[in-house]
Amino acid sequence: MCGIFAYAGTENAVPLLIEGLRSVEYRGYDSAGISVIDSSGAIQTVKRGDHKASLENLAAAVGDGQLSGGVGIGHTRWATHGEVNQKNSHPHASTSGSVSIAHNGIIENFLELKDELVDSGIEFVSDTDSEVLAHLVGRSVANGSNLREAVISAASRISGNTAVVAVSAAEPSIVVGLRVGNAGGIVVGKNVDAAVMASDTIALLPYTCEVIYLEPGEVVEIAQGSVQLFDLEGSATKRDPVVTNQNFEAAKKGNHPHFMSKEIAEQPEAIQGAMRGRADFAAGTLSLPEISLTHDQIMAIDRVVLTGMGTSLHTGMFGASVIETLARIPSVAENSSELRYRNPVLGSNTLVIAMTQSGETADTLAAMEHARRAGAPQGVILEMEGSQATRVADFTLGVRAGQEICVASTKTMIASMTTLLELAIFLAQARGEIDANHVKEIVGQMAELPALVAKALDLNGEVTDLADRLAKYEDLLYLGRGPQLPIALEGALKMKEIAYIHAEGNPAGEMKHGMNALLGPDMATVACAPNNDLYPKMLSNISEVKARGGEVVAIVTEGDGTVERIADNVIRVPECPELLQPFMTLIPLQLLAYRTALALGRDPDKPRNLAKTVTVE
Ligand code: AGP
Repeated sequence: MCGIFAYAGTENAVPLLIEGLRSVEYRGYDSAGISVIDSSGAIQTVKRGDHKASLENLAAAVGDGQLSGGVGIGHTRWATHGEVNQKNSHPHASTSGSVSIAHNGIIENFLELKDELVDSGIEFVSDTDSEVLAHLVGRSVANGSNLREAVISAASRISGNTAVVAVSAAEPSIVVGLRVGNAGGIVVGKNVDAAVMASDTIALLPYTCEVIYLEPGEVVEIAQGSVQLFDLEGSATKRDPVVTNQNFEAAKKGNHPHFMSKEIAEQPEAIQGAMRGRADFAAGTLSLPEISLTHDQIMAIDRVVLTGMGTSLHTGMFGASVIETLARIPSVAENSSELRYRNPVLGSNTLVIAMTQSGETADTLAAMEHARRAGAPQGVILEMEGSQATRVADFTLGVRAGQEICVASTKTMIASMTTLLELAIFLAQARGEIDANHVKEIVGQMAELPALVAKALDLNGEVTDLADRLAKYEDLLYLGRGPQLPIALEGALKMKEIAYIHAEGNPAGEMKHGMNALLGPDMATVACAPNNDLYPKMLSNISEVKARGGEVVAIVTEGDGTVERIADNVIRVPECPELLQPFMTLIPLQLLAYRTALALGRDPDKPRNLAKTVTVE
């Protein structure tokens, strides 16, 4: 939810902090700031609270080279406590200015701590919860603690999940980082000239590809060429770095105007990434060696529960549908924020599958931890390998789509859907629901998927005109049935999050039970109606909308000559086997949201009030 970057080394930290923050800016862009320890040993802080312009304004403010120093911390914020403005921007300083901190997470007992600090004579300058940390650390340092001890002591006073980095004028060559719970990760790395830490691996790649992911309850102290780990007791611990597979170039926009258009265009490759080393197209087989379940465990599964948030939840709904279809195991997808609090019945025969692009989503992690405590075998399908979710799950299926920067998830969804299809085939085969010939047939169909998606991406032109029409509406309805329902929900979510148009996804069968009351010329309907058994039902729903004067966009299969007689706008997606149809209908809905956002002058990469990684509830 916020981005942290810290540097200690031989070069001037200022431009490096700005560059580091650019890499993590997608995590929050309400404000941006840096603190560096200058040559006199004083901490200098510059920050901006200018919404999306914050980082650029900060870069301009420090771009004259006046400010320099070899050690510093930086932060990009997604506001939770206190409005977006300069005083609430991080880093926050202690009263004397000799300590500066940047923080990610929510301090649940901050009012109580604030009262205590105010009673002791400390004056607060911001409305944030984070400022209490600066004062707690500053007070310990003033009382003689070193920075590491002070950060540990401050962390012991706060409730809630926290990731924090801190500098102290008394120890001008180090930065201390600490992680408690799941408030976003901290990843650390070094080379001979520097040591760096950040919320995201991608920010470290210009320095090293050997990284250490901080565990909850770990503290790190970095200095030039040095990384030292400690536990919350302050005892030194040791862990070898891992080599990350992330690629820095992949996180650049290239020739695309937005990360979103780049990531939409990368979907054929993302699907290939998810199939690489798993689907053998020559042999017509599929293997998922990552799955650590025994044959007995697989046979004993009597229910699959898929969980995630937002787009990842919709991906899970697709997964539930395909697992139930192929493996014949009762499967449901449930929102993690609900699952975590409702004391669900989970046990050793329930297979829990979490979906998460970031591997850091607070609710998803909490649901996963709940499943772990309940003794349920559990896998996670994610992009960010090495993130916290991989440590909670028994096995990880990486989707390997490449880092997604745009807040709106696109290529991760399609690669996760591919992975879920693979999981469904794996379970179905292991349980004897489908034989080798059937596997061969489906794997053969999957071989065509990247090309089919590439063909669907050609719809970009058609969608552009349509987007101009949809941009005029304040309300949109998305309809689907069966495996098209998660796609309809996803289409509506995309439209909401980047075009800011109220859009609702609904099972088409629900219309007569309430939604019909809203039909009329003021609301357009997008209906996912590819050629399958449910097509006639969708045609009836489309007719119902038309009968009440509503404009209809029908997403159908190429060759369809029927729907044009009823619908106002028809988008034809490539013909493909039924199992793959959701992949086809998803593409125009992503394009439609993107183009509508542009038509309305929105920035699709930085939607208002949102952040890529949601590490708080
Ligand atoms: C996707 O477009 C959204 N930005 C959002 O719904 C996202 O999918 C959700 O926050 C879950 O994130 P995760 O996949 O990183 O867990």
